[in-house]
Amino acid sequence: MRRVRIVRDPSELAEAAAAEVESALSEAVAARGRAILAVSGGATPRELYRRLGAGTPGSGPWPATHLIWVDERFVPSGAPDSNYRLVRETLLARGRIAPENVHRVETDTGTPEASARLYEAMLRSLLPPTGPAVDVAVLGAGPDGHTASLFPGAPQLEIRDRWVAAVPQSPQPPKVPRVTLTFPLLARVRRVLFLVSGAEKAPVVARILGPAVGSDPLLPAARVDGVGSTEWMLDPAAAAQLERGSSPG
Ligand code: 6PG
Repeated sequence: MRRVRIVRDPSELAEAAAAEVESALSEAVAARGRAILAVSGGATPRELYRRLGAGTPGSGPWPATHLIWVDERFVPSGAPDSNYRLVRETLLARGRIAPENVHRVETDTGTPEASARLYEAMLRSLLPPTGPAVDVAVLGAGPDGHTASLFPGAPQLEIRDRWVAAVPQSPQPPKVPRVTLTFPLLARVRRVLFLVSGAEKAPVVARILGPAVGSDPLLPAARVDGVGSTEWMLDPAAAAQLERGSSPG
């Protein structure tokens, strides 16, 4: 099921997304004793991560939550562009997630390929081999329709037998190599949450969610749906080219 929710502004986007994430994690912990949260980088989710990290340590689903990364930029973990750093400064700032439950993509391995192999091995020990594997994933979408570090036309889109791939060069800023989850694992997320804000995303949002649903099935962000649900949370600027009343598929 794909839903679209248009919120007032970026602050309401973060608030609404935080509520969704916490409820998905709580459901997972109640049902299975633990929760797996996958996080993206980029600017849009920063406020969400800050909010999630600001709660009382040891409360709610957090002690039983494991954190994994949807993708990582191949830069040192302290670099400004590091997705690990983004999350360390926000979601992890008050220690809500136990260090042993934080599974970051190592980037001091020499090559993005080595990092991808290492991350794949880690994920294979953490996650079930088949069936739903990740409880909630926070995703973004680029103006070109990429999600994670899966860029339109890239060979990584064709991978069927691996959960993690190296991207030797990103066509979008920051133009550094990346390490990314692939479709086979992204297809095993229970609840997918896309957070998209800003006018530069309006055309691509319309291509993905507009009346001609499925007209751009090749855009990477259009190819990810949750096993249980997919929610596109948009601010008014990102939703500006969606026709009123259009119903997403
Ligand atoms: C990354 C990402 C990427 C991101 C989109 C949207 O590390 O760059 O995980 O897929 O989610 O590019 O990014 P913004 O929120 O900055 O627009």
